[in-house]
Order: sequence, then C-alpha cells, then structure tokens
Amino acid sequence: MADFLELAARRQSCRVFSDLPVEHEKLVKCVEAARLAPSACNSQPWKFVVVEKPELVTEVAKCTNQLGINANLSKAKAFVVILEDHAKLMSKLAALVDSQTHAKGDLGGAALSLCLEAESLGLGACMVGLFDRPKLSELLDLPADQRYFLVVAVGYPATPKVRNKDRKPLEDIVRFV
Ligand SMILES: Cc1cc2nc3c(=O)[nH]c(=O)nc-3n(C[C@H](O)[C@H](O)[C@H](O)COP(=O)(O)O)c2cc1C
Repeated sequence: MADFLELAARRQSCRVFSDLPVEHEKLVKCVEAARLAPSACNSQPWKFVVVEKPELVTEVAKCTNQLGINANLSKAKAFVVILEDHAKLMSKLAALVDSQTHAKGDLGGAALSLCLEAESLGLGACMVGLFDRPKLSELLDLPADQRYFLVVAVGYPATPKVRNKDRKPLEDIVRFV
C-alpha cells in the first residue's frame, strides 16, 4: 500500500492536461472516495455532478474561465461539480448552531478525498473555486439558487513532474504542548 504522506505530497493542482480521455470507472472511484468522507453528524451535505460528455465538458470549462484565470482548464477531460446540500444535524446540535455550520468543512474533506483518489489512480485534478455559478446552473439544469462548493477539473496530467510544495514551515503553524 502506498504511503499516505507520499500520496499527499504528490497530489498537486493539475492545470495542464494531456489529450487522453478519462475512464468512466475512474471517475466513479473518485466520487466513491468523496462519498466515504466524514461529516458532522454524518449529515453528508453533498451531491456530485460528474460531467464527462465531451460537449458538456467544453461548456463547463468555459464557465471556469473567469477573469483570465483557469483558461488552461479547457483541456480537462471531466469535471466533478460539488454541490452543497442541506446538512441535517442531530436535533440537539441543530438547536445550537445553524445547520450549515460544518458543511463547508465536510465538503472540503470530501473534495480532498476525491482529489487524492484521482492522484492514486494516476489522474490529475484541480479544485476550482472561481466559476460562473448561474451559467453552470443553466448548463446542468440545476436551480438558480443552487449552493455550490467547488468544481474539480480532472484529466491525465500532461507531465509527470511533481512541483515543490510551497507551504508554511511546520514550526510556524504547529505547537506541540
Ligand atoms: C477552495 C479552493 C479553490 C481553488 N480555486 C482554484 C481556481 O479557481 N483555479 C486554480 O487554478 N486553482 C485553484 N485552487 C488550487 C490552489 O491554487 C492550490 O491548491 C494551491 O495553490 C496549492 O497548490 P497545490 O494544490 O498544487 O498543492 C483552489 C484550491 C482550493 C482549495
């Protein structure tokens, strides 16, 4: 079994994709990994739309092309659109906090599981927070007030090169007491 830290270090936002198509089965595995993620009260406040039909993939790529950013995602072969769903919390907790209090954290975990699974399958993925939400709702036949979390672009990386991680040093962010 691969070492988890190695997988975490290898995962990177892939923004340059090859022309290879992505197998449907691999996309199923990616959303399965997301489905298994933990969530507050096991509320699972998520839904996923896997976009794999080439015509629709092209249109979703256009939605992510905002402010001159994400233009290179036009070569992604699939997108997983992560929707924020209503989080049903335990009634005791629901009495104390807003139902969506933990939803973003839950969704972040699911999104990362999806990306790590993509990495383990040899795919590249990039979480995309900048996209045209109304246009995406129109394309995917979703309500205009749909709550989105992220779109994840998926494809085979054009290069196997793993970039150096640009992260704050451990000693700056951790205190062992
Ligand atoms: C919530 C979120 C939104 C992001 N949105 C974008 C985006 O719109 N376009 C993009 O190219 N990368 C986006 N990223 C990727 C980050 O830029 C990237 O994760 C960060 O620079 C660290 O690099 P790494 O993922 O290669 O380790 C996003 C990441 C997250 C977590």
